[in-house]
Amino acid sequence: MRTINTDLTFIDGMRNAGKLASEVLDFIEPFIKIGVSTEKIDSLCQEYMRDVQGTIPAPLNYQPPGYPPFPKAICTSVNDVICHGIPGERILKSGDIVNLDITVITPEGFYGDTSRMFLIGDVSILAKRLCQVTFECMWLGISKVRPGARLGDIGAAIQFHAEGSGYSVVREYCGHGIGKVFHQEPQILHYGKAGTGETLQEGMTFTIEPMINAGRRDIKTMPDRWTVKTKDRSLSAQWEHTILVTSSGYEVLTVSDRCPPPAHNILTSQISTF
Ligand code: MF3
Ligand code: CO
Ligand code: CO
Repeated sequence: MRTINTDLTFIDGMRNAGKLASEVLDFIEPFIKIGVSTEKIDSLCQEYMRDVQGTIPAPLNYQPPGYPPFPKAICTSVNDVICHGIPGERILKSGDIVNLDITVITPEGFYGDTSRMFLIGDVSILAKRLCQVTFECMWLGISKVRPGARLGDIGAAIQFHAEGSGYSVVREYCGHGIGKVFHQEPQILHYGKAGTGETLQEGMTFTIEPMINAGRRDIKTMPDRWTVKTKDRSLSAQWEHTILVTSSGYEVLTVSDRCPPPAHNILTSQISTF
């Protein structure tokens, strides 16, 4: 049985970490334009974290068992890159979709983890719809969070909407518990069966971060051993928030002034999501 930390200093520490992570995305948004390289985006974010926030980028030199150290401060995943794209010389061009994934560590040792999609120039209707449906999937998952709900409720809501829209859900990567450790139990699968899995308890903190492919769900890992692409080269999108389970439901911790508002359209629609 895992310890659930409902200590106020823990929750405030996590609120602070979540806000700081989201504020990195607010800061970088005006720079995400045609002609910018992903390594420029990385260095601007890294400077902002270090010099303005006093936070540490969690990805830098992060090395889970079996992986080489991650060489950059953020993940930049363009088009058919599902996740863990390494910033480099790639220049963003009109029509690209890119996920920027930020994880900060505060001076108190708390982690905040969030990602958003950005559309570059003129983007196809298909790419826009994929980004929108993935955003809705994240929010449908979030909307299931309350004490007593099951982890399978989150996965089922996400899978239903993704597959109902003609897309597929990546299975190899998932959301995760987060706190004073980057990745911890439980695993938050973005597919599954409602009414199954672990029961949520007040005070738990975890991410919901669905990766949704326009084509098939199969993945292919690149020779750098980090970059994960769709095997069929179809587009992939992802959004991520860090969530706290509260007595009445949920609190999104990764919020800031310019963070996109909840997907009210889908949360209030008459279409059943399970
Ligand atoms: N931020 C990612 C997540 O959502 C993890 C990135 S690990 C890295 O869990 F090493 F690739 F940066
Ligand atoms: Co995460
Ligand atoms: Co992340």
